[in-house]
Order: sequence, then C-alpha cells, then structure tokens
Amino acid sequence: MGELTGKVILVTGAARRIGRSIALRLAREGASVAIHYGFSEAEARQTAQECGGAELFRADLEKVGEIQALFADVEKRLGRLDGLVNNAARFTRIDPLEVTEADWDFVHRVNLKAAFFCCQQGALLMRKNPGGEGRIVNISSMGAFLAWPDHVHYCASKAGVVHMTRVLAKAWGPQITVNTVAPGVIPFEESNQPRIQAMAGATPAGRPGTGDEIAAGVLFFLKASNFITGQVLQVDGGLGLR
Ligand SMILES: NC(=O)c1ccc[n+]([C@@H]2O[C@H](COP(=O)([O-])OP(=O)(O)OC[C@H]3O[C@@H](n4cnc5c(N)ncnc54)[C@H](OP(=O)(O)O)[C@@H]3O)[C@@H](O)[C@H]2O)c1
Repeated sequence: MGELTGKVILVTGAARRIGRSIALRLAREGASVAIHYGFSEAEARQTAQECGGAELFRADLEKVGEIQALFADVEKRLGRLDGLVNNAARFTRIDPLEVTEADWDFVHRVNLKAAFFCCQQGALLMRKNPGGEGRIVNISSMGAFLAWPDHVHYCASKAGVVHMTRVLAKAWGPQITVNTVAPGVIPFEESNQPRIQAMAGATPAGRPGTGDEIAAGVLFFLKASNFITGQVLQVDGGLGLR
C-alpha cells in the first residue's frame, strides 16, 4: 500500500492497550483511522481525539450482524476501506480439565469467529477500491506457537488465526494481502506481576514489549507490497526461541 496518508484503516478494539497504540501510530503516519470499540466508550473517545478526531464505531464483535453493520457504517461514513487491523480479542486463564463449552465459545467467538467475519466484510469493501487493493493484518499471539496449558482455548484460537491468515492470503491475492503479527509479552496494568516479569525477563530482549513495538510490526505489513502475504511476524523479544 506504500504511504498511509489518507488511507482509511479500521482498527478493532482500539480504545485501550495495544489497539490504542496501533491507532495512534497509524494516525501519526497520516492514516484516517477508524476506531472500533466494544464497551470502553470513554477510552475510545480519548483515543479518537488523540488520533486527530478519528471516527468512532461501536460493535459487539460476538454478533456477526453487528460486524456487518460496522463495515457498512465505515463505508457510509468514510467512503472506503484500505486497511483492517483485527486486534480485538479475549484472554482467559483456565485449567484445561475445567474448561467448559461456554469458556471455549467465549474466547473463540471473538478471537477466531469475529476475526474471520471482519476479514470477510473488510475484503468485500476493499474489493470496491480502484484495483480492488487492500491490506489486512490479524493480531495473533505467541500462544499460537508455544504450549501454555492454562490457556489451551486461547492458544487454539490464536493458532487458528495464523492458519486462517494463510488461507485468506491465498484466496484474496494478488489485490489483498493478509498477514499476522504475533505479539509476545506486552503488559499494561499487569506489568508488575511476577509471572509476567519472569516470562519477559527470560527472553533474549530481557524485557516486556510495548504497544508501539507491536504497532511497528503492523505498520510494516500495511506498507508492504503484495509480495509479502500469508506471513507471521513474531514481535516477541525472542520469547519463541526455545
Ligand atoms: N497484551 C499481550 O501481552 C498480548 C500478547 C499476545 C497477543 N496479544 C494480542 O494482541 C491483541 C491486543 O491485546 P490487548 O492485551 O491489548 O487486548 P485486550 O485488552 O485483551 O482486548 C482488546 C480489546 O478487544 C475488544 N473486544 C473484546 N471482545 C470484544 C467484543 N465482543 N466486541 C467488541 N470488542 C471486543 C475490547 O474492546 P472494549 O474494551 O472496547 O470492549 C478490548 O479492549 C489481542 O488480539 C491479543 O490477543 C496480546
């Protein structure tokens, strides 16, 4: 896609934490950022303001009907869609022997099902662009590759995101690229937790990452030519090197 000036890019779950960092970074690059949020309205308003008065979009991504309405609203209010960053997700910690059907669905409904339908609706809009061009970046996790027993449901959903990315890259090339960024440990409120510090401290980087470092990975894929598609960029300080 090259330079982002004037490009319309939707970031899901952009009110707080990593999504907010991505939105702020894209706005600094000159993109017209569409800020999606679920329930963090005040934080979303703040992020939108810091993105230079970006447009706000609310949708519960558990509901495919709301996803369809979200993309219709983006088209109505911003006229087009050049990029999509699927960042919204859920994360829970449960012993695999105790995971219920509801626990499994709670995570998969957002992390994998919503991510797919956002890709689908995003691609349908991007196909209306001159040349049908677009860029999709899905946010997975190092949990897609590492075995974290108390997060089996989350790890499975994020592994699904990686393979879904590969399949959609094949389906929608050459006009639309689909890539994945897999973050390592990126703490915010939880940064002082000993478990988090131990995990991050044991990496080659020797520290946790920041939202802006994830945003840099996203930016790389958004700006890249269509020769880079179906790929995963692990932004993890070396967490995956075992
Ligand atoms: N933080 C990390 O260490 C880390 C590590 C690996 C991967 N990741 C991945 O990086 C991404 C961002 O991580 P994060 O820690 O910043 O995420 P997060 O705070 O857990 O969630 C991001 C946002 O997702 C939105 N969301 C969740 N369910 C939704 C629903 N049903 N409808 C609408 N929005 C919904 C929420 O928006 P509202 O608040 O507006 O409801 C939330 O703020 C996620 O994909 C995560 O899996 C993070």
